[in-house]
Amino acid sequence: MRTIIIGGKGHVGTYLVPRLVEAGHEVVCITRGQREPYQPHAAWKSVRCVTVDRAAEEATGSFGQRVRELQPDVVIDMICFHLDSARHLVAALRGQVQAFLHCGTIWVHGPSMQVPTTEEQPRRPFGEYGIQKAAIESYLLSEARRTGFPATVLHPGHIVGPGWAPLNPAGHFNPQVFARIARGEELALPNLGLETVHHVHADDVAQLFMQAIANWSHAVGESFHVVSPQALSLRGYAESVSAWFGQSARLRFVSWEEWRKTVPEQETAATWDHIAHSPNCSIAKAQRLLNYQPRYSSLQAVYESVSWLIAHGLISV
Ligand SMILES: NC(=O)c1ccc[n+]([C@@H]2O[C@H](COP(=O)([O-])OP(=O)(O)OC[C@H]3O[C@@H](n4cnc5c(N)ncnc54)[C@H](OP(=O)(O)O)[C@@H]3O)[C@@H](O)[C@H]2O)c1
Repeated sequence: MRTIIIGGKGHVGTYLVPRLVEAGHEVVCITRGQREPYQPHAAWKSVRCVTVDRAAEEATGSFGQRVRELQPDVVIDMICFHLDSARHLVAALRGQVQAFLHCGTIWVHGPSMQVPTTEEQPRRPFGEYGIQKAAIESYLLSEARRTGFPATVLHPGHIVGPGWAPLNPAGHFNPQVFARIARGEELALPNLGLETVHHVHADDVAQLFMQAIANWSHAVGESFHVVSPQALSLRGYAESVSAWFGQSARLRFVSWEEWRKTVPEQETAATWDHIAHSPNCSIAKAQRLLNYQPRYSSLQAVYESVSWLIAHGLISV
């Protein structure tokens, strides 16, 4: 199979591209050439890298044709954020590809209702990102079911791995929260700390992309969550991290209005986005149809990432 991955040097591509190469795919990776994968791997020696700015080529209407000319059997689209981008690519690839995999997000659900959330529940997204991703999902699955376009949509949770800061127990990305907890300092959490976050290790996301390609007949026309087996409450997350460092968590619970005054605006916005969704997603469908077997719990994934932050001197504990 010739497999094109659009945006293949990021969190997921770091793990997915080596898996594709090892499985015998001829891999072509499209990026702007500005970043390298988070971890080196010998598999990259056999990957053809094509430098393209998707946004610039979409503006001239040439991106889809560019991908088609690479004669892919499989296209994995990691970086589609607008319905028009998806329409443009599908129009160019119809009749060419055997499988088309889109990376979505669990944000398509909006706020959690009945948990664990299943893929079948009605979408109630909010915020431009979630709304666009839900529109793309709806469009791709409809194309698959009505016209036979071989689309599958995978919805990751908060992607974690060594090399970048994970979503922390306060619901934002400042890695110093881990350092404060490790030193036994007090941490304020909004409300009762019972709102949830749902992580996934980047390699588990890569695993499900591979399983979707291998189980084509179960994957086409379907969407799947790709998260760890269980979500975490902010409180449970903070208490677990404290225990890693031999501490008892010193948590203080304050109202949202009070809490937001204690952190910078950027962190407030990130925490609000996460607790307003409070994701808690089911992996039963991916387990049943694609034999998804995540290697990492949320805490194992975060532990690996925090260990990397410590080893690289990015946080002092
Ligand atoms: N991060 C999360 O926690 C999370 C959670 C849920 C869902 N998702 C979904 O995951 C997907 C992103 O995957 P990721 O986190 O693995 O990606 P990522 O780490 O953000 O990496 C993006 C990749 O795309 C390339 N790229 C960016 N802009 C480009 C452009 N205009 N033209 C061509 N290449 C471009 C980047 O390389 P260059 O910079 O060199 O071009 C890089 O290789 C998105 O669809 C997102 O909605 C992410």
